[in-house]
Amino acid sequence: MFKKVSGTKDILPEEAVLWQRLEEISRHTFSLYNFKEVRPPLIEEAALFNRSLGESTEIVQKQMFLVNNKDEIYALRPEGTASIVRAYIENNLNKTNGFVKLYYIGPMFRLERPQKGRLRQFHHIGCEAIGSPDPGLDIEIIALADNLLRNFSIEGYTIKINSLGCQPDKKKLVDSLRQGLKAKLGKLCPECVNRLETNPLRILDCKNDACKEVVAGLNISSACLCPDCREHFNKVKAGLDFLKISYQVNPQLVRGLDYYTGTVFEITQKDLGSQDAIGAGGRYNNLVQELGGEQAGAIGFAFGVERLMLAQDKNINIPDKNLAYLITLGEPAKLEGLRILDELRRNNVPCDTNYEDKSLKGAMRKANDLNSRLVLIIGDNEIEKGTITLKDMRSGEQKEVKINDILKEIRC
Ligand code: HAM
Repeated sequence: MFKKVSGTKDILPEEAVLWQRLEEISRHTFSLYNFKEVRPPLIEEAALFNRSLGESTEIVQKQMFLVNNKDEIYALRPEGTASIVRAYIENNLNKTNGFVKLYYIGPMFRLERPQKGRLRQFHHIGCEAIGSPDPGLDIEIIALADNLLRNFSIEGYTIKINSLGCQPDKKKLVDSLRQGLKAKLGKLCPECVNRLETNPLRILDCKNDACKEVVAGLNISSACLCPDCREHFNKVKAGLDFLKISYQVNPQLVRGLDYYTGTVFEITQKDLGSQDAIGAGGRYNNLVQELGGEQAGAIGFAFGVERLMLAQDKNINIPDKNLAYLITLGEPAKLEGLRILDELRRNNVPCDTNYEDKSLKGAMRKANDLNSRLVLIIGDNEIEKGTITLKDMRSGEQKEVKINDILKEIRC
């Protein structure tokens, strides 16, 4: 017997309705902010991610699902931002639309060690606003993330923010980290010893307890920010205060991807254990240019849907559709039954029947299991008279009506 691949998940119907709920709320909320949906492919040239996420990042080093095709290497997308920027440049969206607001919902792939809240195929609900460096946009994007969580009815979350500053500021931060960490080399894990050379910012994300202790002892501050970046960050904080959005400034928040510049944020939820980030994002003001487009300030975020599912209220109740269940007794009734179902569905009445040759008792039990509002019974007798029996499953009331009046009866 085949089993699903480790780190993947079957989303069965009972859970799928909860996914549909998150997706519907997202589409509605994004539309309130004038974001439009975009659906890029699931596979891209691997080099796109090497270039944008950074050669020394965990994802590029260890987590890409790669597909070799002759001389080319493709990757199943590990995230959405790089694809969206590629699509923005390739489709000249800057020329046709100028400033664009795009959202996406779909699967991402990372070859990670699976655990609760960490999968190899997981899903993002994300958005990217490309074409403006305005701090007002950072405020709107963080407010949007906050509003989405509220609309999802998720509680107990914390928005952590920081600013990495522009590229020269980031370089200053990297240099000061190198300086500060050199003396503590013996306490770092072997990987972080390497990272000190390749990418010291990644040391701040290391999950190793000894490294975390070293990082906690560092005096990381916003001292590396130039006056412009400091002013930008101050405006973002003031805007969030003005909108009464709670946040914590966390100078250690650097995010695991190289494309970030300026404002970065991460949203954690208190009940999720070690994989507690339900979403994250930030500015990437240089990425469009690095991938071959014109200079364009940009910012976005993505929520991990599986983690939203873990964080949301377990008692969310999705009301059943008001199903009408048709029971046919005998061959002629089966055919007439198909016509009735067709008519009901054309008139937007959700309905079903059984194709398992159940007895009347068995079919009634099935109708009950499906939480049907109404049962329609038709057999030889009814066909002869041109009638059908309707049973209201809530009141137990039963009556015989003309077949031609079914719709009228169902609707009242
Ligand atoms: P990220 O932090 O790598 O950012 O992923 C965003 C969210 O996806 C995480 O906060 C987490 O909830 C979820 N996530 C990540 N990896 C997994 C996994 N293996 N299993 C389950 N959930 C996971 C990005 O991907 C950026 N592209 C976000 C962004 C958009 N920045 C700017 N625009």
